[in-house]
Amino acid sequence: MRVLLLLCLLSLGNTKPYQPVNIMDLMKNHDIMMADSDDDDDDDDEDDDDYDDEDCPANCRCLPQVVQCSDQGLISVPEKIPEDTVMIDLQNNDITEIKEDDFKGLHKLYGLFLINNRISKVHPNAFKNMDNLRLLYLSYNLLTEIPANLPPNVIELRFHENNINRIQKNAFDGLRKLHVLELGANPLANSGIEVGAFDGLSTLYIGIAEAKLTSVPKDFPSSITEMSLDYNKIAKVEVEDFIRYKNLQRLGLAFNQIKFVENGSLARIPNIREIHLDHNRLKKVPPGLNSLRYLQVIFLHNNKIGYVGMNDFCPSSAGGKKNPYTGISLFANPVKYWNIQPAIFRCATGRRAVHLGNFRKK
Ligand SMILES: *[C@@H]1O[C@H](CO)[C@@H](O)[C@H](O)[C@H]1NC(C)=O
Repeated sequence: MRVLLLLCLLSLGNTKPYQPVNIMDLMKNHDIMMADSDDDDDDDDEDDDDYDDEDCPANCRCLPQVVQCSDQGLISVPEKIPEDTVMIDLQNNDITEIKEDDFKGLHKLYGLFLINNRISKVHPNAFKNMDNLRLLYLSYNLLTEIPANLPPNVIELRFHENNINRIQKNAFDGLRKLHVLELGANPLANSGIEVGAFDGLSTLYIGIAEAKLTSVPKDFPSSITEMSLDYNKIAKVEVEDFIRYKNLQRLGLAFNQIKFVENGSLARIPNIREIHLDHNRLKKVPPGLNSLRYLQVIFLHNNKIGYVGMNDFCPSSAGGKKNPYTGISLFANPVKYWNIQPAIFRCATGRRAVHLGNFRKK
């Protein structure tokens, strides 16, 4: 029966290429100590056993403070989740809605994993009083907008692959601790991002890859160190694009339609370490790379670059560069690698840092 159901789903094209999250690994990575619960000495093991049997919601498996209910075909959040729960795993079910009282009273909750369900509605009070919630994963659902009243102390918010096409003004207001905001694989165009959408944030990472952007959004918080905008429809990079992003260290713009990078635009991101501009339509090496003292990785493969100049990558004066390049890729461009003089890469760590020919083909 289950196999049949699976086959049906497959034939409907309904399966999503979703990556399950391993809650236990996550807990280790986040160093989530559940020591508080074990205040009293562990002399009453029987209590733990009772706990499992009686206090665990139906269809779930329970460890102390962890409730695992993934892959159970649940259509709603189970009732009677123990109040001391720190992590709830509800991945890969068929939950359609988060109701007002679904998580009521779970004040200790640290991580809530709702990945790969069918959630299209979240009650505006659903996350009320979740002051300890740090990880909220809502990727692979059917949301069309950012839920209201997100938990105030959340550090990671993931909305990958929903149907979000609009981010309303102040959608994330008050989330002062947010570090990671993943919005990739949503039908988001620049016009869908309202002015002030990211106000109040001091996020470090924002991802809007696989969307419908036609230019670099200029309204992200100035705190960001990493921006992932790969697989969009961005056609050019202009000076005003990066004015706010002085802290940027990693920039993902691969798989766009960029023909042109305006001189002066890269000078706005002097701390950049890594730029991905591969799979675009560049006819020349972006101007200004040679002034980026910390740049170590620049991917330019699969473009239309026909010529590389002596100072395109390295400053003319020695000492102008702080970090040598560890990765430059130029393969799959019209430029003939035998026409490129080795001295062009004089500020790379060595020959192995530079990928020129099409030798990667197998
Ligand atoms: C870009 O601008 C800088 C600073 O104004 C200038 O020195 C440089 O020659 C320009 N590069 C190109 C390719 O126009």
